[in-house]
Amino acid sequence: MGDQHFPKKTISSIFILTGAGISAESGVQTFRDKDGVWSKVRIEDVATPEAFARDPVRVHEFYNTRRAGLRTVEPNPAHFALARLEERYPGQVTLVTQNVDNLHERAGCRNVIHMHGELAKAFCAHCGGKAEAAGDLSQALVCTSCNAPGGMRPDVVWFGEIPYHLDTIYERLMEAGLFVSIGTSGAVYPAAGFVAEARAAGIRTLELNLEPSEGTVLFDEARHGPASVLVPAFVKDMLADRPA
Ligand code: APR
Repeated sequence: MGDQHFPKKTISSIFILTGAGISAESGVQTFRDKDGVWSKVRIEDVATPEAFARDPVRVHEFYNTRRAGLRTVEPNPAHFALARLEERYPGQVTLVTQNVDNLHERAGCRNVIHMHGELAKAFCAHCGGKAEAAGDLSQALVCTSCNAPGGMRPDVVWFGEIPYHLDTIYERLMEAGLFVSIGTSGAVYPAAGFVAEARAAGIRTLELNLEPSEGTVLFDEARHGPASVLVPAFVKDMLADRPA
């Protein structure tokens, strides 16, 4: 696992996985860093279906605060660099994010796969009806699909629930020539297992992270530093022989 530049001409498609670290420099808190989200609140109290059944007000408060926070942050150079890559790379670029923020979209990415859902979306726990969630959610909201109150919940995948779009994700991962993991600790499966799947399929793997993740030894190459520096440099390298 030395420093090596990938021969771009052999990389037909790129699969990118992002985590909270790519949004850290935008001012969005990560989960497991010092003073991270999970150092202040317990997962069992706000991020499980049981927590929502037990104390929906507390769960709504937690997500309403994070959703309101989205209005105070902006994409950073790492988000914009991935939008450039998506737009200009000649091969397929698949962007899968564990993040529930909308910073990839606000930076111009058009095909973002949110495997853990999105803060800006909601669905009804009674009927599954989907809705946008621009502002606060509460027990008072009535579902526009089934007209029942009290069921609207954040469209975020909680611990114990199955992430979204896994079929598409594994299909694209297996087709990729390069797997790039950006800003994730490698602590939560199934995302944390993508690097091992890629390796087993003979796909080149690259980690761009502030510090070595839990799975760093599995990567062919690991570059450590802030995403706002590493990601634009990576994208510049991948687009080097493209017309400006
Ligand atoms: N640039 C690059 N990486 C960074 C930066 C930065 N500026 N700041 C922090 N990081 C790295 C940290 O070193 C860490 O490895 O980002 C990673 C963030 O890890 P976590 O806080 O665990 O976030 P993430 O990996 O996205 O968590 C995965 O866990 O709680 C669930 O559903 C939640 O999607 C989340 C999942």
